[in-house]
Amino acid sequence: MHFVSHLECAQCGQRYDATTVQNLCVTCQRPLWVKYDLEALREKFDRRTLFGRPPSLWRYLELLPVFDPANIVSLAETITPVLQLKQMGAELGLDHLYVKDESRLPTGSFKARGMALAISKAKELGISKVAVPTAGNAGGAMAAYAARAGMEAYVFMPEDTPAINQKECYLAGAKTFLINGLITDCGKLVGEGKPIKGWFDVSTLKEPYRIEGKKTMGLELAEQFDWQLPDVILYPTGGGTGLIGMWKAFAELEALGWLKPGRKPRMISCQSDGCAPIATAFARGDRFAVKFENAATIASGLRVPAAVGDFMILDAVRASGGVALATPEADIPGWMQHVCSREGLAICPETAVCFSALKQLLAEGKIGRAERVVIFNTGAAQKYPEAVSETLPRLDLNRPIDWAAI
Ligand SMILES: Cc1ncc(COP(=O)(O)O)c(C=O)c1O
Repeated sequence: MHFVSHLECAQCGQRYDATTVQNLCVTCQRPLWVKYDLEALREKFDRRTLFGRPPSLWRYLELLPVFDPANIVSLAETITPVLQLKQMGAELGLDHLYVKDESRLPTGSFKARGMALAISKAKELGISKVAVPTAGNAGGAMAAYAARAGMEAYVFMPEDTPAINQKECYLAGAKTFLINGLITDCGKLVGEGKPIKGWFDVSTLKEPYRIEGKKTMGLELAEQFDWQLPDVILYPTGGGTGLIGMWKAFAELEALGWLKPGRKPRMISCQSDGCAPIATAFARGDRFAVKFENAATIASGLRVPAAVGDFMILDAVRASGGVALATPEADIPGWMQHVCSREGLAICPETAVCFSALKQLLAEGKIGRAERVVIFNTGAAQKYPEAVSETLPRLDLNRPIDWAAI
């Protein structure tokens, strides 16, 4: 039993069949939403349905697009924990600061959610060959899930993608290529190769199902906050599926009547000033973003100069009463060290950007002390050795140790 009614273009509203393979809207080349029969769902299910289900994103199966659970491709995704950061909260002037730690997921990032759904759905639709352009973590996640599903996988990534992302794809058996360009150039190659190699394009928002996986961040968060959503969510934004997916989750939960009365969170889209197309469009009041030239940031997941879902990100941010902003690239390593040394929580460079943004918004009075604020740690810091340039002091066992200097 499933509740998917159809697919629908996010821009022109054209409807598509959800039982056949689809990428973008053929008319306007924009992403497709998965639509559910929420009326029927509302009648058949309430929150108690979840009691006793395994602590995994699959507990929300009725709100997911897989028709037959036998097609689920899983690496035992866990519900990611929400940690309160008391020290950082006190330091920044916040009573309720939390991090939802996505680094605990398979392959060490939230990308596992999207790929768990995309690959399960690809399996259900009979697809056996998949390709993706990646800033890093999505490639690693797709390679792993494709391996588990027995699919042939192709990954295209900028040649300066973090080494661990390169190696995880290789280990998972994906045919992985380094490109002397950006993720947008990799995306073009995936598109060009499609008719020749016959692969399915799993690019961010160019197929409808990764976003459904990302949606589970919002579903989990709502359940973890006992259906009373936090006031503010800070999210590091590259292609935008995380933020868009969560906003979709909140709308669906609202339609189901599962949320307690109250406002939905203000969504804060955080970018580095090394690559800030969404923050720039937000500041200009535009609905579509202009390609960001010379994009460069160590937060590799944010190095997306042009996002096909730009208007979906900006619509969600504005509808929520939030903002999109960019903070200094140079501050990223400092925030990674600062947060981890205060809280023991290793955050990825993308999330470091959110801490910088939080400080800025608090200083501007745009977030209040008593508000409940959630930052997403979208990936494991351990995947980014390149972001930490510190070299440690060496002790030479052939010389007397200078204990005074230690
Ligand atoms: C660790 C990390 N954080 C954030 C992002 C950006 O995510 P989204 O594309 O959903 O905006 C990425 C994307 O690669 C990532 O790997």
